[in-house]
Amino acid sequence: NAGGPREGTVLAIDQGTSGTKALVICPRRGVIGSGGAPVRPRYLPGGLVEVDPAALLASVVDAGRRALAAAGEPVGAVGLANQGETVLAWDPASGRPLTDAIVWQDRRAEALCKELAPYADELRDLTGLPLDPYFAAPKMAWIRRHLTRDGVVTTSDAWLVHRLTGAFVTDAATAGRTQLLDLDTVAWSARALDIFGLGGERLPDVVDAAGPVGTTKAFGPELPLTGLLVDQQAALLAQDVTERGTAKCTYGTGAFLLAPTGDRPRRGGSGLVSCVAWRLAGRSSYCLDGQVYTAASAVRWLTGLGVIAGAEDIDPVGSAVPDTGGVTFVPALAGLAAPWWRGDLRGSLTGLGLDTTSGHLVRALCEGIAAQVVSLADAVAADLGEPLRTLRVDGGLTRSALLMQTQADLLQLPVEVAELADATALGVGVVARLGLDPALTVRDAVPRGRPAAVYEPRIDAAHAAERLDGFRSAVAALLDRAPTGS
Ligand code: G3P
Repeated sequence: NAGGPREGTVLAIDQGTSGTKALVICPRRGVIGSGGAPVRPRYLPGGLVEVDPAALLASVVDAGRRALAAAGEPVGAVGLANQGETVLAWDPASGRPLTDAIVWQDRRAEALCKELAPYADELRDLTGLPLDPYFAAPKMAWIRRHLTRDGVVTTSDAWLVHRLTGAFVTDAATAGRTQLLDLDTVAWSARALDIFGLGGERLPDVVDAAGPVGTTKAFGPELPLTGLLVDQQAALLAQDVTERGTAKCTYGTGAFLLAPTGDRPRRGGSGLVSCVAWRLAGRSSYCLDGQVYTAASAVRWLTGLGVIAGAEDIDPVGSAVPDTGGVTFVPALAGLAAPWWRGDLRGSLTGLGLDTTSGHLVRALCEGIAAQVVSLADAVAADLGEPLRTLRVDGGLTRSALLMQTQADLLQLPVEVAELADATALGVGVVARLGLDPALTVRDAVPRGRPAAVYEPRIDAAHAAERLDGFRSAVAALLDRAPTGS
């Protein structure tokens, strides 16, 4: 059956922090097969987050094979999205990992970033990124100082692609998450490499998101790998957020709000990241990007404490009470990112009483996540000089009506939930198709869907402001307690 490849059917794989999701996408029939495989990062004392690289690769192969088996027909190409700032050292001759993968949430490079603080402004100007252990370069430098000087040190995508195809590449948007890429030229920056002490490193070639990089037999028949894109940008592409005043937010392990800025980077003053959205046919598109480090991972944390049985409990447990009962939760369990950039801070839970129930805690967590997203939306509006009019959302946590309603209420804007929660896989499916068929345009390749749901604000602006004030005061208290970031 050659119908699949002829139609432009692709296998789109989203290698995320907590699991890998694969979809077989047919341009005409939509998703015709899917598969998933969990990944379990290790959360260790001191803010360390690690994962076995072999588990990442196994999950990619497993999820991909499952999706193909479910579809029951061949595909023409593969696309791979990756988690962005997760890094490891590996041997380019054998492909063997030399270290565990250090996950993007890991804070071990905090001291190294403090040491490099005198270069923070220069790095921000060069790369669009603030100096923070979240990004790849501080973790790469940490590996070089503390673990090994052997092999190459790269983001996880470069290793996965090497294992799948033998190529040594990374896409421009993933390279843009390292803090080693010149934001204007979209090439490795010798100066940034120097600042991090990574001057002599052998780095992957920076490639477009769409185009053949090699072939793989990992999923059975030999297939070309024609799409590579970092996950948040892939979701941005799939959400078709092109109009001014629109942004997307993906609620995964963390929550990430991205707004496009066209063919030029926008270096705003509101604390957002300015970065490459994707490079296609040699032309770069840019976006603003804000992060909430813990969304589903905060839900998992509550689950681990036994407050709820899992994410599916958010709505039933939270709906048992009408409000947070005066509880405020700043879920900064891995620190605060944009616009505060205080990765050293930890979360706070205040206003607890003998009458506090698990429902109040769940609602307070929803408010804590949603209030951070509001801060990001405000920062986007300030940097773009115009307010957001709507927010498109995707990711697993969009299944929670309570979280989505809370988001619409606090944001005071309609929140449109993507038809398919797996927007990241859809987005990398788009670039895989573009790579397979260079005659295709982005317009043609992006699937047009109607939102699965639209949440309208149900409270007035004054009430929203009051609830946001409570959250902001709690953040201010955290900042007061640790004013120097030490
Ligand atoms: O920057 C890290 C982020 O892209 C990871 O995404 O889906 O694993 O939360 P996710």
